[in-house]
Amino acid sequence: MQDEQQKIKDLREKLHKYNYHYYVLTEHIVSDQEFDKLLKELEELEKKYPELHDPNSPTQRVGSDLSNIFNSIQHKTPMLSLSNTYDEQELLDFDRRVRDGLPENSEVEYVTELKIDGVSISLNYENYELKTAVTRGDGVSGEEITNNIRTIKNVPLSIVKEKREVLPVDSFEVRGEIFLPLEGFRELNKEREKKGEKLFANPRNSTAGSIKLIDSREVAKRPLDIFLYYLIESEEKTKSQSDNLRIISELGFKVNTNYRLCKSINEVIEYCNNWELKRDELPYEIDGVVIKVNNVKQQKILGSIAKSPRWATSFKFKAKQAKTKLHKIKWQVGRTGAVTPVAELEPVFLAGSTISRATLHNTDEIERKDIREGDYVLIEKGGDVIPKVVAVVTSEREEGIEKLVIPDACPECESVLYKPEGEVAIYCENPECPAQVKGQLQHFVSRGAMDIEGLGESLVDLFVEQNFIKTFADIYDLHERKEELIEIERLGQKSVENLLTAIEKSKEKPFDKVLFALGIRYIGAGSARKLAEHFRSVESLIEADSEQIENVPDIGPSISESVQRFFADDKNKMLIEKLKNAGLNFKLEEATDSTNILADKTFVITGTLTEYTRDEAKEKIMKNGGKVSSSISKKTDYLLAGEKAGSKLDKANKLGVKIISEIELEELLKNAETD
Ligand code: IVH
Repeated sequence: MQDEQQKIKDLREKLHKYNYHYYVLTEHIVSDQEFDKLLKELEELEKKYPELHDPNSPTQRVGSDLSNIFNSIQHKTPMLSLSNTYDEQELLDFDRRVRDGLPENSEVEYVTELKIDGVSISLNYENYELKTAVTRGDGVSGEEITNNIRTIKNVPLSIVKEKREVLPVDSFEVRGEIFLPLEGFRELNKEREKKGEKLFANPRNSTAGSIKLIDSREVAKRPLDIFLYYLIESEEKTKSQSDNLRIISELGFKVNTNYRLCKSINEVIEYCNNWELKRDELPYEIDGVVIKVNNVKQQKILGSIAKSPRWATSFKFKAKQAKTKLHKIKWQVGRTGAVTPVAELEPVFLAGSTISRATLHNTDEIERKDIREGDYVLIEKGGDVIPKVVAVVTSEREEGIEKLVIPDACPECESVLYKPEGEVAIYCENPECPAQVKGQLQHFVSRGAMDIEGLGESLVDLFVEQNFIKTFADIYDLHERKEELIEIERLGQKSVENLLTAIEKSKEKPFDKVLFALGIRYIGAGSARKLAEHFRSVESLIEADSEQIENVPDIGPSISESVQRFFADDKNKMLIEKLKNAGLNFKLEEATDSTNILADKTFVITGTLTEYTRDEAKEKIMKNGGKVSSSISKKTDYLLAGEKAGSKLDKANKLGVKIISEIELEELLKNAETD
């Protein structure tokens, strides 16, 4: 036993070291086979001695089935944000403010670093072991996502023995940026496209989504990467940012090596301009440069104002633009009948992808910018995958190019278009317009609505074109045409059977999802839930007048008008009848345990619950009229605290928020029954 215990220790140390060489230094000092062999050996030994479990063991990189709880943790030092500068003048102003804040004639050096476009993270080490990894949150406290961060291979779980002397303080914090390299981002989106999942708009969004996944095994599959740039240790042994970067790197963390020590603001400006031109050569995205006063003593003198330090700033790059030819403007009909213009472009490469289409938003925008077919235009990528046309290069407009004519008939069904007063959109009002029918069906079967797996966009289009479905109700008659479906070349027996099972299963969806699926204009998933919970059946919703509808919290006149208009239409009433007969839910199940006792009460949940899961607790509270929020404020009525409740407990105490246990929550609800 003694021997094997020592063996576990040695193996862990060895593997930590190999990991560091492979993932941080990208050098191979051991063969893959040897590494796998040692890892396997360690796994076996750990299985034998579960009492020696260590969350920082190299075997834990693959994630575990312990799902994350995401406790809120207060940062020891607040995580500040940075002020922004956009041009040379603003950088010169920053330099002047720095000098004004320091004793006269101080020498000032700056460190310039690339501003990685990712998500910031605080890694806390105790005894040279990773203890917690916390997101920035609101800067004061963030969410603990340690289990997820452990899966990122170049985050040291334990500082390699020989490296420890670099920093003779065994507890410290390092901060940095998690990001997804461009290649990993493209791969991830490709996979999502294959599975019919929503694409991530950019690497930053995909990083933010990945690190918040509940299942750390899923996180382990995402090729996340990290650069560290900030060291905090309580003994204040370090003297400058450039020293700190060296120390961070020597401790075994990955540091971006493109930083530079600049002797003057002019060197800073040169660095910024240079990287703005070269940013595309990098295998990851940057959105600017961070400029930091190098000397830690000077940083202290300068201090911070409000939310950002006076000793640092960021230089933001301009959004990337490209010039290309706009060949044609296509008018697209959406599920609500809104007809929107889309620019078809000469394909051009911009910010990591080739672009051949861009949105033009609406007719007003086209008129304002005087965009014409055949023009050269500037396009820009904003926060979305779909780029937008920002301007026309009028100097390059060829002769004879004519002003664009806004259509007055639907490009799909030729019915007359209608522009409601005060709106910028134009609408096709023909409910049988095939483009609208397809769009509505696609919405009906989508994941947030009836969630019919296997009935994707192209199959919906095919079914509409081949007259298998015209309305939602036809979906539930498809089983009668099973043999015909099997004959369709692309389908076959097995997939038709799967599809029919998925359709059958969708009948279990609750009333609020059905209401959302109907695609009534302005009714999103949230308002559908509120309406369903309030009226509880479609009959009461149909009977309600506008005043009653607008009485529901967060429901305004445009929704109520739209609901009434929808149900006033006999065709829609017939549709509801058919769907009812098919077995869809048009009533909320009468939940016997639901009351209104917690109306207007706001809860925050923290710690590990023992009686039920967090989701169950949340549902219990909501079912009884209460609200659940993620952060504590003066407005919070109750903190439901389980075991190991952390900083939220302190905050609740400070604010005088009532703290209750699960048992006390039960008591509260019991009172409701006897009342
Ligand atoms: S330093 C007080 N350095 O930019 C120092 N931040 O707007 C604050 N960022 O929240 C951060 N690369 O997420 C620093 N080399 C870098 C950075 C960097 C990216 C992000 C970070 C921060 C935001 C500031």
